[in-house]
Amino acid sequence: MNATRRFRIAAIPADGVGQEVVAAGRQVLDALAAGSGGAFAFDWREFEWGCGYYGRTGRMMASDGLEILKDFDAIYFGAVGWPGVPDHVSLWGLRLAICQNFDQWANVRPVRFLPGVRSPLRKADDTELDWVVVRENSEGEYTGMGGRNFAGRGPGGEIAVQSALFTEVGCERIMRFAFDLARTRRRRKVSSVTKSNAQQYGMVLWDEVFTRVARDYPDVETESVLVDAMSAKFVLRPEDLSVVVASNLHADILSDLGSALAGSLGLAASANLNPERRFPSMFEPVHGSAPDIAGQGLANPVGAVGSAALMLDHLGLPEQAALLHAAIEATTAAGILTRDIGGTASTEDVTKALIAALRT
Ligand code: NAI
Ligand code: MG
Repeated sequence: MNATRRFRIAAIPADGVGQEVVAAGRQVLDALAAGSGGAFAFDWREFEWGCGYYGRTGRMMASDGLEILKDFDAIYFGAVGWPGVPDHVSLWGLRLAICQNFDQWANVRPVRFLPGVRSPLRKADDTELDWVVVRENSEGEYTGMGGRNFAGRGPGGEIAVQSALFTEVGCERIMRFAFDLARTRRRRKVSSVTKSNAQQYGMVLWDEVFTRVARDYPDVETESVLVDAMSAKFVLRPEDLSVVVASNLHADILSDLGSALAGSLGLAASANLNPERRFPSMFEPVHGSAPDIAGQGLANPVGAVGSAALMLDHLGLPEQAALLHAAIEATTAAGILTRDIGGTASTEDVTKALIAALRT
């Protein structure tokens, strides 16, 4: 028997359906490990950070939270946000605190079309669609720089500045990441998303770096598309996409569009990577805490399980990741679907089906 490889994983389910889908993902991962004949195992530690913790302590995470997390092999995250806590407080206090301080500068968000799931796109029935959004995850529009002033002037007099920061280093590393990823794919193509017609500083720098980096990858096709046109292209010509690289805000929006086109926000997986591995990377479904369906057993766990597969890839277990993808496809193909994708199965039904699919 192989020596057991043990991975220390920090689980942060946080809020709403985050709790349900992280519990589901953990069960599936533990089943996978149990079936590995002792080849690998997960040592889980779960943290109760999130909006409930905020209500009790006034903080979204422990004051030494980052110090604690930094020694884990990976972080498995649910979703953050709950009515009663302002969204910017919950997001900056937990998810962005981790992403930014751990320099998880590459956010990978595959758009996967699954058998048995109806896409709102008619062409999904007879066209091979499969692309991945690579999101710059450390700067751009979410740098958190700016300020508000003049509230004292009375109602109607306040001003706010929200700055976007683009650095050559930040643009270049995410673009190289996108080109390297394109080289691993059937279609070697990178589409850069821009808005340099209107944003003449940051986005023009973005475009210039893209052109420069592209020269080092003559074997990879490129295009540069304005974000408004790209949102139309997602709907009208998605078969022409392979790797889409975009700024923090643009990719945030486009990846929700991509997952909706694949059938549901509940299906989409993501990896927040620190490619240098100086810090742990974080794996989470794209969706939020979905207060409208939380606690009812309706949450689709596929996005969280797909994120677990991305985590396995990162941990050096690509065959195990492929097993998880196969289990997801077998489950959706068998029509075991949650309500968001037209079925009647509960979170637990889908989780059990995924585990059963892993065993066959
Ligand atoms: P959301 O993603 O939570 O929900 C949008 C829609 O998708 C809702 O109709 C919801 O029911 C549905 N949905 C989401 N996940 C689902 C799943 N697993 N299965 C089935 N249906 C699912 O986005 P919303 O409503 O804009 O935000 C709710 C809260 O989540 C806010 O507090 C927001 O700040 C937070 N949020 C957190 C994110 C994160 O932690 N990464 C990302 C996006 C939002
Ligand atoms: Mg988003």
